[in-house]
Amino acid sequence: MKAVVFDDEKTIRNVLKKVLEKEGLEVLTFETGKEAVSIVKEEKPDIVFLDIFMEECNGIDILKEIVSQDSYPFIVMISGHDEYKYIIEAMKHGAYDYIVKPFDINQIRKAVNDIKKSIDASPIVEKPTIDIIGKSPAMRNIFKLIGRASSSLEPVLITGESGTGKEVIARLIHAYSDRKNKPFIAVNCAAIPSGLVESELFGYEKGAFTGATHTKKGKFLVADKGTIFLDEISEMPLEAQGKLLRVIQEMEVTPVGSNNTYKVDVKIITATNKDLVKLTAEGKFREDLFYRLSVIEINVPPLRERKEDIPDLIELFTKQALEKHGLKRGGFTKEAVQYMKSYNYPGNVRELKNIIFKLVAIYRERPITPDLLPNFIVGDKIISSAPSWKEGLKKEIFRLIANNKKSIYVKLLSDFEEILLKETLKHTRGNISEAAKILGIHRNTIHRKIDELNIQIKEKNESFI
Ligand SMILES: Nc1ncnc2c1ncn2[C@@H]1O[C@H](COP(=O)(O)OP(=O)(O)OP(=O)(O)O)[C@@H](O)[C@H]1O
Ligand SMILES: [Mg+2]
Repeated sequence: MKAVVFDDEKTIRNVLKKVLEKEGLEVLTFETGKEAVSIVKEEKPDIVFLDIFMEECNGIDILKEIVSQDSYPFIVMISGHDEYKYIIEAMKHGAYDYIVKPFDINQIRKAVNDIKKSIDASPIVEKPTIDIIGKSPAMRNIFKLIGRASSSLEPVLITGESGTGKEVIARLIHAYSDRKNKPFIAVNCAAIPSGLVESELFGYEKGAFTGATHTKKGKFLVADKGTIFLDEISEMPLEAQGKLLRVIQEMEVTPVGSNNTYKVDVKIITATNKDLVKLTAEGKFREDLFYRLSVIEINVPPLRERKEDIPDLIELFTKQALEKHGLKRGGFTKEAVQYMKSYNYPGNVRELKNIIFKLVAIYRERPITPDLLPNFIVGDKIISSAPSWKEGLKKEIFRLIANNKKSIYVKLLSDFEEILLKETLKHTRGNISEAAKILGIHRNTIHRKIDELNIQIKEKNESFI
């Protein structure tokens, strides 16, 4: 196997040469990329290591030129920049991998070994402006997959907990594809009443059902030549799943009540925060559809598993929030950012964003110090004495509010009542009269509450859960 290295840094050339030779490759190195295209044509290497930024030449342009040849080697971009734009751009244009300097020799070895096992690459397009953050290894991998997914026609399935950024990723795939000037149609499958899914997606003919007073184009036809994003795909009824599978296989839709079929050219991206494999095993999701949709799968890890992204996200959202309120300064102190990093964000990036927007709205230009952060973030670290149950309750209230939960009054009161009743009844071993005395309420009320809250008493005067 032969490798060619283009990099204007001598040490990088030397290190690569050494490592690659150890891997059994024949290695040629060049300090400029000016002649790269003709060198590659002549030398026919298996792998090219290409620096993105070299004096007088641009690695991406060279990459594009090499990739436009009929047959071309695997190209590994090396760069001192870990900005997502460059990573997406490089992967998009067919780079095999993107390695950030200073690199770990093992990364190079891994790339070479993966290449030895072989795969192939792909073509073109440009950059949009979507604010997306992620320097963690996990997000870098995701950018690589976005680059790949945007140049492929295969369906993409994005999985991950709520608020991790699945929709931003779907939009990014579209924005980097050659469909970027065509529609991106987002459909939330959970928001459509189950009986209407098919007519919504595939359209209907006038008179197809009561209320169909005119012919309506389905989302697939509206998205023609562009991308359709089917969010919360797990909520799609089984019957509609069967129809969707046919649409993907045939690339044509038949509106409800129509004899006509229409050809469509739509890239399909789906997303879910559910475990589709489990739903498939339970018979709630079609297995054949699952395999068809998950040709390219992007799993977005929860924010707590990529905390190194938090400071950059804080910076972005603070900037957005300050702009929204027309403020010139403000934001979090270093200590506050440290606290923000220690919290686990069950609501992921969305929760972090909501917290920041709320704090900036309240404190405006005032620097946000740890004492201004909500209790559930600073927690016990700031409250010196052991937190009382009231403090715990306060934390829970803040947490629910920050997660945009609704109707929390009813929820909290019923949780409270349930605990109060269960614990008292546990103490009285199920004796209701005694519990009524302790609680100071009528025994009929207790009976009613037991029914309402569905509290189970296994055996009277015995134990219960
Ligand atoms: N990496 C990121 N950089 C910047 N903003 C992000 C990032 N990830 C998510 N966001 C922001 O967080 C919010 C939630 O993201 P998004 O709606 O894409 O999540 P989701 O995974 O689709 O959530 P759900 O499963 O609840 O629909 C959005 O406002 C989005 O702009
Ligand atoms: Mg979403």
